[in-house]
Amino acid sequence: MAYDDLRSFLRALDREGDLKRIKVEVDPYLEIGEIVDRVNKAGGPALLFENVKGSPIPLAMNVFGTDRRLLKALGLGSYEEISEKIGGLLKPELPHGVGGLREAFGKLGSMAHVPPKKVKDAPVHEVVLTGDQVDLDAIPALFTWPKDGGSFYNLGLTHTKDPETGVRNLGLYRLQRHDRRTIGMHWQIHKDSHNHYQVAARRGERLPVAIAFGCPPAVTYASTAPLPGDIDEYLFAGFLQGRRVEMVDCKTVPLQVPANAEVVLEGWLEPGKMLPEGPFGDHTGFYTPQEDFPALTIDCVTMRRRPLLQSIVVGRPPTEDGPLGRATERFFLPLLKIIIPDIVDYHLPESGGFHNCAIVSIDKKYPKHAQKVMHAIWGAHMMSLTKLIIVVDADCDVHNLHEVSWRALGNTDYARDLTVVEGPVDHLDHSSYQKFWGGKAGIDATAKWPEEGYTRDGGWPEMVESDPRIADRVTRRWKEYGL
Ligand SMILES: Cc1cc2nc3c(=O)[nH]c(=O)nc-3n(C[C@H](O)[C@H](O)[C@H](O)COP(=O)(O)O)c2cc1C
Repeated sequence: MAYDDLRSFLRALDREGDLKRIKVEVDPYLEIGEIVDRVNKAGGPALLFENVKGSPIPLAMNVFGTDRRLLKALGLGSYEEISEKIGGLLKPELPHGVGGLREAFGKLGSMAHVPPKKVKDAPVHEVVLTGDQVDLDAIPALFTWPKDGGSFYNLGLTHTKDPETGVRNLGLYRLQRHDRRTIGMHWQIHKDSHNHYQVAARRGERLPVAIAFGCPPAVTYASTAPLPGDIDEYLFAGFLQGRRVEMVDCKTVPLQVPANAEVVLEGWLEPGKMLPEGPFGDHTGFYTPQEDFPALTIDCVTMRRRPLLQSIVVGRPPTEDGPLGRATERFFLPLLKIIIPDIVDYHLPESGGFHNCAIVSIDKKYPKHAQKVMHAIWGAHMMSLTKLIIVVDADCDVHNLHEVSWRALGNTDYARDLTVVEGPVDHLDHSSYQKFWGGKAGIDATAKWPEEGYTRDGGWPEMVESDPRIADRVTRRWKEYGL
């Protein structure tokens, strides 16, 4: 079962010995980052820093640092459990007779049980600080890498709503602490809260913002999920955890936040109020340069009586991004298949930051099918930022990078099988010669057909495979060989 709040999950990890409490004083300036990066790369436990220099608030780190922990937090045995559940909902069998009807209603019903639920009283409202009582210096922010431009909250969940439609958004964007009441909103150009900000700016209005820390694990994951702007992350979080998320009205802004969060910041974003943000040692493993981003003044902080904070370290992969990205890859396969049914499976390598490369397998049905799929991916929501797409035949295991590179390296004639285009790239991409757009490539590593012009030597060669009868015999006799 998924955990309702961060602290009950940490207690469970503690019981299992998968949480390490660090009692000595540690410095959020570089020291915590160095410790967490080492522990994460070694596949180590979640960490609770109980004595963070300069702050009375303990800091939980590396909480989702392994697939095992993220799965446990979400109450899952495997990421595929959710893909199958989503697949089942999206493709209800046509209701044949009463049994089928019941099944279809059952599926709809299970969706209806999960919209967020409003509550009046919330643990996160046990303490309310307003105006000059607000002091962000008391809330630990991390200075992670030596050339960072300051201290950042790396796991604050930003809530905004579209000023025209009222549709809410939840997104994870890093927040630079500029001073005791001001933070920088690093929502990138393709992100939903950036859109909300643009709408408010066009109307000359202030945008209400709430930022929640230490949220229920399903909510934290959902804030990173690339959902289209009109799909509520809270519905998705409820779906993931199999229970409605309890939410409470904020004290000073017309937004709701999880009642079980640990700390919430509230404020109104003035149109045009910007401050330089960064540099920041980013997911790419490189520093992203300083750039102006909106600056939010915090009017109100609400929190539990003895709150704790959760944060995350990003930098050169692998990092804690790994489990979050792998969850997204698996959860979104059925959704991607709705838009591009040609896809059999796909894999987004973590070393490519999940958007630099997509390996896609297809059941090739017509000439240039691979090229159609490449262009479909470049037109599919956030997948559109993918720089390299490698298309392989359905019999290739896309998760086996050795097999993929064998196919891609051997099956490609670069004069014919390489598609090079230009299009939008991730805000953080440093390889493109200007911000926001650049060159992308697709490699058709499928077996080529005569209709595609491959007519030499009687057609595409056969793959080398063992004789199945002999392979069976060798398996049976393996022990006899003494190997
Ligand atoms: C640890 C972590 C930090 C992130 N930081 C940022 C960030 O600073 N800015 C940003 O635009 N996206 C950031 N992202 C990616 C967004 O959370 C992700 O694109 C999400 O889908 C955005 O939500 P939205 O689609 O509702 O805008 C981060 C993701 C992770 C896992």
